[in-house]
Amino acid sequence: MKIGILSQKGGVGKSTLTRALAVEYARNKWEVKIADMDLKQSTSTTWNRKRMDNNFRPKISVEPFSSVQDALKNQESYDLIIFDGAGQADIQTLEIAKVCDYIILPTGVTADDLEPQVKLAHELKKKGIARERIGICLSRVGSSKNELEAAQEYIEATGYTFLGMIMEKTSIGQCSDTGLAANETKYDSINAVVDKLIQNIYDRIQKLEEAEVKYG
Ligand SMILES: Nc1ncnc2c1ncn2[C@@H]1O[C@H](COP(=O)(O)OP(=O)(O)O)[C@@H](O)[C@H]1O
Ligand SMILES: [Mg+2]
Repeated sequence: MKIGILSQKGGVGKSTLTRALAVEYARNKWEVKIADMDLKQSTSTTWNRKRMDNNFRPKISVEPFSSVQDALKNQESYDLIIFDGAGQADIQTLEIAKVCDYIILPTGVTADDLEPQVKLAHELKKKGIARERIGICLSRVGSSKNELEAAQEYIEATGYTFLGMIMEKTSIGQCSDTGLAANETKYDSINAVVDKLIQNIYDRIQKLEEAEVKYG
């Protein structure tokens, strides 16, 4: 299976979601590979070095790649490849979307973040990616309930699946810095919200697969 975490903007939480997703699937004994497509930042690659240094389990495999084709070379060795996308990579963003079973676009709650992500979703759809294969989630959500509700309504009105959220927390940033994921903080309440998002993603992909078996 292949999942693409994509955006045009940087800093919207792609790498943070990628790593939490990788950890959860790996906990369930999937052989997971993160394809780090952001060669400028290499955020996930650096993160994994810290994870290995600290001997955190489960082990995740992360590798930087400059092309989608390279990332797919050893795909038989993995149950899941997660593409951690780079911002500002129009052509590669589409290439990743085309090979993936499911695409997740994380966004902040403000219009500044939401609008470009919905625009990207529309562009992918125009290029032949089915609407059902695109989900949007909120990241770095603050404490305002109104802001969260407004963002969720905005996403739901677009027709793309609203998948859930990750809240903005100092402890999530601290975890990232030591090689842990957003669902491995010391706070169960934070981990639960992230795991709920991941469960929604899992359920969504299951549903798509079942529909494919049924209707071809
Ligand atoms: N939920 C969060 N709480 C706190 N800090 C976060 C959260 N999500 C992301 N960050 C921080 O914001 C920055 C950008 O996040 P990142 O996941 O690397 O985004 P992207 O991969 O889209 O560029 C990083 O420094 C990261 O640690
Ligand atoms: Mg990143």
